[in-house]
Amino acid sequence: MAQGAESGPSPFTPGYSKPPLVFGGHENELHEITAVFETLDFGENDSLLISGLRGSGKTSMLSRLQDAARRSGWIVLSDDASKGLMTRITESSIPREINRLTPATRMRLSSVGLWNFSASFEFVDRSRAVKPLLRDDLIALSSALGGDAGILITVDEVSSGKVRLRELSRFALEIAHAKEEGANIMIAFAGIKVDLDELVKNDHTTFIRRSRDLDFRRLTPRETAHVLEETARIAGRSIEFDALQLLIRVAQGYPYLIQLAGDYAWRNSPDSPAISLADAQVAHDKAIKSVQKRVISRVYEDLSERDRDFVNAMALDEGGRSKMSDIADRMGTYGQYVQIYKNRLIDSGYVQPDGRGYVAFSLPYLGDYIRSMDPQGPDGDEFRDGWSAFPPPPST
Ligand SMILES: Nc1ncnc2c1ncn2[C@@H]1O[C@H](COP(=O)(O)OP(=O)(O)OP(=O)(O)O)[C@@H](O)[C@H]1O
Ligand SMILES: [Mg+2]
Repeated sequence: MAQGAESGPSPFTPGYSKPPLVFGGHENELHEITAVFETLDFGENDSLLISGLRGSGKTSMLSRLQDAARRSGWIVLSDDASKGLMTRITESSIPREINRLTPATRMRLSSVGLWNFSASFEFVDRSRAVKPLLRDDLIALSSALGGDAGILITVDEVSSGKVRLRELSRFALEIAHAKEEGANIMIAFAGIKVDLDELVKNDHTTFIRRSRDLDFRRLTPRETAHVLEETARIAGRSIEFDALQLLIRVAQGYPYLIQLAGDYAWRNSPDSPAISLADAQVAHDKAIKSVQKRVISRVYEDLSERDRDFVNAMALDEGGRSKMSDIADRMGTYGQYVQIYKNRLIDSGYVQPDGRGYVAFSLPYLGDYIRSMDPQGPDGDEFRDGWSAFPPPPST
């Protein structure tokens, strides 16, 4: 029924910080968290830590939450964890948000005395008489919302430099104080796992220590299929059965790669009503080359030197799984150290156990990338997460 001639530009969104048209997976979490925007019953959702490798969808998740919060009338303060976060929030995000509030709410705020307003209740500047404190701003904003809504704060790109962490801890402390005074605040941090772990270790506020962890890995084959089909369908095209099977296998559930594969397939014949196997085949090579250049290379660079030695040692096994004792030999180190690297890599999503004494890559195409861009798909992987029926296709 799709009318190919009418289909327009590609609806796929490959690229960092480009939220997808169809957001796959994470349904339960989204449901539970967005319910808080309506009920203000926070439960375990006071503070969220969203971790995952590059391109796994952390920023997209934050923007889903921001949209949902706004729909429920919440104030949204979003920024990344770079230097000067606190000042940016107080000096530019909060004034901007104030001017989005209803005139009635702004009128209530004008009586608090923290900010000066014009006769028509537009924000003018901060009152010089009051020492600027984020906690006071948050308490005032939350009470002006009158118990119907709260404040969502999102902090993306958390990194674990000492100075950064100190600044983030001060930020968290301000929020903790505001919460103690009854302000309705949800905060979400996003970053790679090791950095978020450092943040929690460094922090002295109990609410951050009790954060809810959302660890973003790959989507399942079903979720992958849904994203591909539904994105195409919304934009007026279908995907033929065997094309879809190939695209699922190419994408391996990795969000960035799903968008890349879909996008290349779409662009190969934008005017035909359905994406065909030939389109998917063209997308296959292009998407894998592109994901290695844009994503896998950066994910590899995020590794410490020793962790890199570990994955390099793994990549010598072209079969896709490596024996722990071989890795130890290749690294020229003892078993107990190798266990430490292994656990860290499993924890951050690069590697997974694969039977007793074996490990395999859980990040698709990393082994290939390390074997210097030789796109020979790993075969014989035994993923226990539903992926064994969808091995990466052999290169064409
Ligand atoms: N749940 C999802 N379903 C489908 N596509 C997604 C999903 N999440 C993200 N994407 C797509 O994946 C790509 C990367 O997303 P995003 O920028 O959110 O990742 P990230 O984890 O923030 O990466 P980084 O660590 O580099 O900041 C984008 O092209 C986005 O459209
Ligand atoms: Mg991001």
